[in-house]
Order: sequence, then C-alpha cells, then structure tokens
Amino acid sequence: KQIALGIDIGGTNTKFGLVNHRGEILERGYLKTDKFEHVEDFIEELHKIVKPHLDKYCLDGEFYGIGVGAPNANYYKGTIEQAPNLRWKGVVPFSEIMSKKFGVQCKITNDANAAALGEMMYGAARGMKDFIMMTLGTGVGSGIVCGGNLIYGHDGFAGELGHTIIKPNGRKHWSTGSEGSLEAYASATGIAITAKKFRAEFPDSMLNEYPEEKINSKTVHECAIKGDPTAIEVFRYTGQKLGEALANFVMFSSPEAILLFGGVIKAGDFILKPTKRHMEHNLLPIFRGKVKLVFSELDEADAAILGASALVWENSSVQMSKI
Ligand code: BGC
Ligand code: NA
Repeated sequence: KQIALGIDIGGTNTKFGLVNHRGEILERGYLKTDKFEHVEDFIEELHKIVKPHLDKYCLDGEFYGIGVGAPNANYYKGTIEQAPNLRWKGVVPFSEIMSKKFGVQCKITNDANAAALGEMMYGAARGMKDFIMMTLGTGVGSGIVCGGNLIYGHDGFAGELGHTIIKPNGRKHWSTGSEGSLEAYASATGIAITAKKFRAEFPDSMLNEYPEEKINSKTVHECAIKGDPTAIEVFRYTGQKLGEALANFVMFSSPEAILLFGGVIKAGDFILKPTKRHMEHNLLPIFRGKVKLVFSELDEADAAILGASALVWENSSVQMSKI
C-alpha cells in the first residue's frame, strides 16, 4: 500500500488529500492560499495539518511522495513562477522546499494540467486522447492533451490559454497588464468586473442590491435564477467571450471534447448555452457539431487532487489501477 499527497493550489483556496494508488481519497484538507504572504509559512501550516494524517495512514516508507497542481507551475523545474493570482512573487522553488519539509519527492505541474490528468484517469475524459481542460476560477487555466499526453512545450509552461488575447485592445489584466485576455473576461474575477460595469448601466438590476464586495459569479448566478436580465446578460457576454476563445482552441488542436471545470461553471446553462452557441458559430464548418463541450465529472476539488497525486506514480514501479 502506497500513499501520495495530492495538492491543488488555487489563487484563493488550496485543497489537498491523501490518495492511495487506486485513486481513493482517504482524507481531505483545506487551506486559504491568500492568507499567506510567504510561501514558507504556507508550507509550514500545510505540514502542521497533514503530519498527523500521514502518521495515521502511512507506516514506514508508505508515504510515496507529493504531487502538486499550481498556477504558473513548471513541471520541468519544480517551480512556481510569477503567478498572476498568487501573492508569492518571483521564482518559487516549490518542489524543493516541499521535499525538504516532508522528506519525500515532490512533483509539480500546472493546476489545470493536474485537473486534466485527473479527468483523464478517473473522470469525464476517460479513454480520450485529445481534449482540452479549461478551468474557470480566480484565473483561467488550461491543460491541453494531444495524443494522450499533456503538452508541456520547450520551457514547460505550454497551455496558458487563459492569457491568450481574445479582444484586441480589450480589458486590461489586473496583474499581467495584457489587454483583452480570456482570463480578464471569463474568470470569476473577470465576471465580477463585467457585473459591476453592467449594473452601473442598469440601475434597475437586482445586482444593485449588493454591496460592491459581494458582486461575484455566485451572486450574479442568484440574480440570474431570479430572472434579472442584467445578470443573465453578464453570463451571455462571458459565454460569448469564452465561446469565441474555445473556437480558436478547437481549430488549434482538434480536440474530441472541451471540459469546463471550476467555480464559474456552477452557473450551469446560463454560461454553457451562450458558450456553445458562440463556439459553434465561429468554427470552421469541418469542426462544427463535433466537439463535445462538457462539465467536469469529478467533484471540483477532486480532479486536481487526483491528477496531482498521479504525478507521484509516474515512472514508478507502483502500478496505478484505474477506477
Ligand atoms: C495562471 C495559470 C493557471 C490559471 C488557473 C492563470 O492566471 O497563469 O497558470 O492555470 O490561472 O489557476
Ligand atoms: Na496548463
């Protein structure tokens, strides 16, 4: 019996779990990422929480390693570099610090890559060789799988589709300074910006009943359910931007499916329908009607935790069985 620790680091929250080689999560935990200004303090706290569970589940030598999914992570180098939505600036040698602290190997990949791996092994992408995972959370991430493998590229950062420009001279990104990126529109952060703009234009909108800091994709969704046209328009606009971007991505790699994942997809059809419509409309006819657009099958946290933990078994003698 071998145990891995799978960690999913997001801009706002970090979720982790102890996972066995069958992909069963034995124990879960949670930590606020943005509470920690210094990565060392974050790792210290993580260790404090996880250690008792490791002692409970792992006898000598059974703790096999740590797999991490994180924004702007580099699989080749084990680093997290200048992540736009993290407080840890510069180049963070994350794997190295973790290995020292926990005394085991630590592998890291981009958070959306980890989610793609998780879905490929245990979820909606089982049996698929070509698909794209899009994660819509604080930021927008992607994992591009071609011919059964994640694309890493020359420098290890391939697949940053959230930062592709979808509107020339468009909305300025709060951190990178780029103009018109997909993330500036389709992330939870982007949706909040759109909602604040739209509600200012429509004084009658229910969105005006919330204080500024309560405007987020969840409250916009609540208003959309109650039939508020401005809230519905926020998702339509977001879906348009996302759909146009997805059409580009389809023409780039001809995936069998695009998986959508993350907090934003809780808005369901309010976002899915316009996304699909605008994707199809902008596709070259040879691609139309062929690409599945589906929501992630695994519980939001689980895909990334499982995918991250799977990094640990890569190239190891442990046989990973699929569920
Ligand atoms: C980062 C990506 C990450 C995504 C989702 C983006 O801002 O650049 O690396 O996958 O956010 O967390
Ligand atoms: Na990626």
